[in-house]
Amino acid sequence: MEEPLKRNYAPVKDLKPDEHIRMVQEIFATVTGKYDFLNHLLSFRRDVAWRRFAARKMRFPKTRRYLDVATGTADLALEVARRYPDVQVTGLDFVPEMLEKAAEKSARRKECRDRVSFVQGDALALPFADQSFDVVGIAFGIRNIPDRPGALREFHRVLVNGGQVAVLEMQSPQVKVLRLLCSFYLRSVLPRLARRFTRNPAAYLYLADSILSFPPPERFSGMMRDAGFSDVRHYPLTLGITRLYVGWKPE
Ligand SMILES: C[S@@+](CC[C@H](N)C(=O)[O-])C[C@H]1O[C@@H](n2cnc3c(N)ncnc32)[C@H](O)[C@@H]1O
Repeated sequence: MEEPLKRNYAPVKDLKPDEHIRMVQEIFATVTGKYDFLNHLLSFRRDVAWRRFAARKMRFPKTRRYLDVATGTADLALEVARRYPDVQVTGLDFVPEMLEKAAEKSARRKECRDRVSFVQGDALALPFADQSFDVVGIAFGIRNIPDRPGALREFHRVLVNGGQVAVLEMQSPQVKVLRLLCSFYLRSVLPRLARRFTRNPAAYLYLADSILSFPPPERFSGMMRDAGFSDVRHYPLTLGITRLYVGWKPE
């Protein structure tokens, strides 16, 4: 049993961007062991259905290449590879511990492992040429990136004309009573559960804080339009605690 980390993280609103980034790197380097298990437990396995929904909305008409940014343990990357047998998938993350897990998982899936590769890199400086991918997706990653407009501009740059961005993210529901329930679950129930299962329970306080401080749908959609995406739509999932945002790079 590993020694628990005794950390407390400052609220997201008090952090400078570089402090936020260091904190995100530390958090994701220390939760890899139980990351998948806790994701499924804490979301009552809805996370699997949310990623499936996102994959179902994707279209690959030109390059047949998909980039999964902030791939973590590759759940969305592997779902896309499973659903689209002729698509090449690249998963990118800046935390090597996450990428190790991702590569292990991918190696166990023989139907897709030859089409999935992983790259260590930063969402804000993607190591790819302009117009390399049909679709760029990011699941539960954008809220961990302080410079969201910068990341969206990078996604736009590496997409082909007519390409698609898909952003899956948890956020406060729009309906007040659900918002209160969600906040209670995230701030009171989730940290208690996390204390039982992870060596870094403070990570789950950060999770709650980052979800509750994510901008509302209209503001985030506006950010996507400002980055150059058109026909931006969003789909509420599970009472709006998660939302899929889709946008297109004009032809
Ligand atoms: C909550 S996990 C999501 C993982 C996965 N997409 C999923 O669906 O479970 C967020 C991931 O984003 C990564 N991340 C955060 N900021 C990043 C950045 N600027 N560049 C690359 N990866 C980043 C973290 O390392 C972490 O693995």
